[in-house]
Amino acid sequence: MVQKKTRLDFLEMKKKGDQATWITAYDFPTASFAEKAGIDMILVGDSLGMVVLGYQGTIPVTMDDCISHCQAVRRGAPNTFCIGDLPFLSYQISYEEAVRNAGRFLKEADMDAVKLEGGLRVCPQIKAIADAGILVMGHIGLTPQSSGQLGGFKAQGRDAASARELIKDALAIQEAGAYALLLEAIPPELTTFIAKKLTIPVYGIGAGGPCDGQLLICGDMLGLFQAFTPKFVKKYANVAEIETNAFKEYIKDVKTGAFPADEHCYHILKGKEEEFYEMLKEFM
Ligand code: KIV
Repeated sequence: MVQKKTRLDFLEMKKKGDQATWITAYDFPTASFAEKAGIDMILVGDSLGMVVLGYQGTIPVTMDDCISHCQAVRRGAPNTFCIGDLPFLSYQISYEEAVRNAGRFLKEADMDAVKLEGGLRVCPQIKAIADAGILVMGHIGLTPQSSGQLGGFKAQGRDAASARELIKDALAIQEAGAYALLLEAIPPELTTFIAKKLTIPVYGIGAGGPCDGQLLICGDMLGLFQAFTPKFVKKYANVAEIETNAFKEYIKDVKTGAFPADEHCYHILKGKEEEFYEMLKEFM
């Protein structure tokens, strides 16, 4: 059985330059395959809105959606460090709500940590959650929940002025008590600078490297999510094609009578056949 990693293991990995591996998962089977493969961490991202619930973005995702998917993931990966993602409006309204909702991930879904999006403007929430004894991770760069303000799903920090703001955000997040930081869709030069500057682990998605580890969305890397594929994704499988072909084969087999075959059937018990056919006569 694998031993679940802790915050201290991730700090040690940073010190040693050992890259942490991280994917998103939203369901029991994906989580169990990831744990079996030896992944270091799982994020139950609010990207579940797009990848599994079919929304256009992450805004409609609710706390109850997140909790239910976190519970399934925890059942599938009992020995993996799992992070729950605070959805839109679960932490912006008040510090009290931020702490209560962060706590739900631990109490109801046995998550190890939570993540929230934003820089300086959410540092009071990060501090409140950390002060409640909860591991909290920051997330800056391309922050999907505020993609409207960013003008879409666009890379960030590509000039000196916006890169400076991101460095200030990163430092403030560490100061507020976050145990780790995720950088999304920023230039690798900036990622590497921030990862070296901060003492907490700094992970990237679409942020190049080196930093302290990489995250990919399972729907992207498995080839499940069809709406679009960001530039930074490497596809390791085409599960959509595998599933579609399997469904097509099944349809063909049923239409032609090739399925079900004898090996898929439960026959009348041996020695009970005669009695069975006699019984049928009662209805003829
Ligand atoms: O919800 C999610 O999967 C995320 C990633 C986009 C980083 O927050």
